[in-house]
Amino acid sequence: MNLAKRMEQFGEGVFSKLAEIRQIKEANGEPVIDLSVGAPNIAPAEHIRQTLSTTSLAEENYVYALHDQQELLLAVSAWYKKRYHVNLDPQTQICSLLGSQEGLAHISLTIVDEGDVVLVPDPCYPVFADGPKLAGAELYYMPQKKENDYLICLNDIPEDIAQKAKFMLVSYPNNPTTAMAPASFYEELVAFAKKYDIIVLHDNAYSELVFDGHECGSFLSTPGAMDIGIEFNSLSKTYGLAGARIGFCLGNAKIVQALKTLKSNMDYGMFLPIQKAAIAAIKGDQSCVEKTRKAYEHRRDVLCDGLNAIGWKIPKPSSTMFVWAPIPENYTNSSDFVMDLVEKAGVIVTPGSAFGPSGEGFVRLALVQNEEMLKKAVTAIAQSQILFI
Ligand SMILES: Cc1ncc(COP(=O)(O)O)c(C=O)c1O
Repeated sequence: MNLAKRMEQFGEGVFSKLAEIRQIKEANGEPVIDLSVGAPNIAPAEHIRQTLSTTSLAEENYVYALHDQQELLLAVSAWYKKRYHVNLDPQTQICSLLGSQEGLAHISLTIVDEGDVVLVPDPCYPVFADGPKLAGAELYYMPQKKENDYLICLNDIPEDIAQKAKFMLVSYPNNPTTAMAPASFYEELVAFAKKYDIIVLHDNAYSELVFDGHECGSFLSTPGAMDIGIEFNSLSKTYGLAGARIGFCLGNAKIVQALKTLKSNMDYGMFLPIQKAAIAAIKGDQSCVEKTRKAYEHRRDVLCDGLNAIGWKIPKPSSTMFVWAPIPENYTNSSDFVMDLVEKAGVIVTPGSAFGPSGEGFVRLALVQNEEMLKKAVTAIAQSQILFI
């Protein structure tokens, strides 16, 4: 049996490999603390769960949704206006997604043809590269280096590549580096995109997870952004709705409409109770967003303070639900360090190399455990002596 050539570019994901290691260790009765996958474990506020629960009992909510409900589109438009000061036409500039991952995986099919060039950050959240690969695009990696505060250096993109590029993916607050971008970066980005006629896709999954009084808005509020780009947003982290799968693609009407058309041939819309829960989330009391933000900030402090105290010098991130840590000096390779860390301390983290070549030399720790478990992880790392062997 011959399967598609395109599958040759996709190996087993790093997270399944790490999950396998976890299973083996647990089967041997060895405790494991998993800080690898960025799976949020803070449940949605009660009013959101209540809406999901009551609407799930109604018999009429089991039909194919087919479209986004008008009430949802109006709620999203009002949310973007209030939260990000961005005006969106509900009919043409908003499309719901079965999680922003789904939209990020499919959007390339609407923009690129086989062999077109796509600019992708390095390191990056894996679907940024996998989506364009599925569409047969050629990738050009834009390094996000520590010495440039992990911002993409637009001036370093060669002229001939910029001329050929069809679209580029950008995302701040950034997974995995945790970097944030100033308004001036977005202004330069829009000017660059206009100069070379490149579409910009901005992923804004972590706009609400910013700490220490920092503020974060939307790429779409940059003058001119709506002419050349779209934004992805997600209710997974902001409202704890990760398992319900709900995100949005917003902005330039031509691109949003193309994705809507593609999706109308692929899925029959979002389960109606999830649409209602999303409305409850974005229209309801927003104190749950602040509560979630504070919970991640506290976890960050517990983990970073703990690791620094035992001699692993890592910077405190100002955003996201991750810590981007340089590997200890006694290691030269992030995968080797990750394997030793699980073996000797029972703590699972993600090797930086899994996010692209520029991720080598780092590991990503996800703040997906409670305070007690994070403290246990620090103690286990200290006792393993792995930092100084
Ligand atoms: C940067 C980034 N974008 C998108 C996603 C996917 O989110 P969703 O749950 O909306 O599919 C994630 C999930 O970890 C992420 O880190």
